[in-house]
Amino acid sequence: MYQDKLMQESIQKVEAARAENIKLDPRRMTAEEKEKLLATYHPDYKQDEFRVLEVGPNKGEKVPTELAALLQANSRVAGLNLDLTKCDYETDVLIIGAGGAGCSAAIEAHNAGAKVTIVTKLRMGDANTMMAEGGIQAADKPNDSPAQHFLDAFGGGHFAAQKDLLYKLVTEAPDAIKWLSDLGVEFDKTADGTMVTTHGGGTSRKRMHAAKDYSGAEIMRTLRDEVLNRDITVVDFTSAIELIKDENGKCAGAVLMNMETKQILIAKAKTVVIATGGAGRLHYQGFPTSNHYGATADGLVLGYRAGARLLYADTLQYHPTGAAFPAQIFGALVTEKVRSLGAMLINAHGEAFMNPLETRDVSAASIIRECSDRGNGVKTPEGYAVWLDTPMIELKNGEGTIEKRIPAMMRMFGKYGIDIRKEPILIYPTLHYQNGGLKITADGQSDIENLFVAGEAVGGIHGRNRLMGNSLLDIIVFGRNAGKSASAKAKTVAMPEKLTLKHVEEFAAECEKAGIKSDIVSPKLLPDYARKA
Ligand code: FUM
Repeated sequence: MYQDKLMQESIQKVEAARAENIKLDPRRMTAEEKEKLLATYHPDYKQDEFRVLEVGPNKGEKVPTELAALLQANSRVAGLNLDLTKCDYETDVLIIGAGGAGCSAAIEAHNAGAKVTIVTKLRMGDANTMMAEGGIQAADKPNDSPAQHFLDAFGGGHFAAQKDLLYKLVTEAPDAIKWLSDLGVEFDKTADGTMVTTHGGGTSRKRMHAAKDYSGAEIMRTLRDEVLNRDITVVDFTSAIELIKDENGKCAGAVLMNMETKQILIAKAKTVVIATGGAGRLHYQGFPTSNHYGATADGLVLGYRAGARLLYADTLQYHPTGAAFPAQIFGALVTEKVRSLGAMLINAHGEAFMNPLETRDVSAASIIRECSDRGNGVKTPEGYAVWLDTPMIELKNGEGTIEKRIPAMMRMFGKYGIDIRKEPILIYPTLHYQNGGLKITADGQSDIENLFVAGEAVGGIHGRNRLMGNSLLDIIVFGRNAGKSASAKAKTVAMPEKLTLKHVEEFAAECEKAGIKSDIVSPKLLPDYARKA
């Protein structure tokens, strides 16, 4: 498959050095080295790629330029003469988004006896959860503890995580695994039933539970079945385009839009959960993405326009190992599990230039440095890349390991004639995760009463960098948490009577006063890949 002459020459160097490289355990970088590396090469540090917000709760703070444009854009309901007395859906808990967090929230709210309605702009399970590969962290082995898990995640997130949220994440992790297992998730186990666990970047213990390398798909399959087996209303191909409040400024529902007919619908609810996921399809700084088609930061826009603060919206995660070749899978996720099983990062000259299990931000910055200033990248049709030396996996763990532990990776590259058991693969960072999002309290509530948030739309759980496997964990822990809190709150409030979109008008007036002129409407809902004439 690697027909390019330079690629072939480089592969020969990788193969020639493999026997020596495999014996190496490249040293970890010092804190000072990491700081310098990040400041110079990590995309979060490129000041000209950010814009300071001029309006809203985070006025004066910087966010990625593409996100700023959406946060300060025009509402999709502007100019529509909506009749808010006419109600199409009435529910106790309205959940916006049907990925892992939304479905977990729905199951728990339903358990608590609430009438639950999920709306999703695509279909249930069209979400980043479905795309997650490597696993889910939980400290449930005798040599581990939630305290150890906390320390790893807190350090990996540059000591910026909201401590109460991170505490909840790590202490409820073992129960999250049990809950999933009881629902039917088939985690990898040894013959005696013990869960198989591995390392991820920045973990001090092996606590990554997985279902081969399609852990997210297995979890999503199970959650989707559970939702379908219950009396939960799921309205698909229907997006939320604005939150609705009651006359006291509390969240009271959402304006919905049928994605096909564009029909506008009104959903009235006692409480609302935003579980809309990430932003990879905004392609910050022109990066490719590992995210699903609908990852367009919609929840951040809905919440922000209604007055909810964002936290760490200026920090994104670029997964170090996105597929860089062939073009058909450019940006697709190559799970970190490939490195936890022993594959090393090797430059064009066959040199192992870093420890493969540094945290993600450090690994991504190191690869970018190798491919830019150091000039040690392999030329590809899309730019430069480095090798991930996958044949090392079977040399270290025995024949058959790849097919058994990472079959999806084998298939993904196999389709293009690359046998990852025999040949290394080319990788480069890909936009993977938004570390920031809407600010919540430990019970999942945003700044707006009766508005809860869960999953990737939340900011602050992981600080300024997330460790592998803590996202599948957070959608379960904080999804369930939001479902429990939203249903408990719904029991204490009456169905809102007078609905209003005054906050949308006020936000537009604030934009006008600030002199913002935009021809963009938001939320974006779907990426626009159509070729312009
Ligand atoms: O590399 C991965 O499998 C990704 C996992 C994650 O983002 O947690």
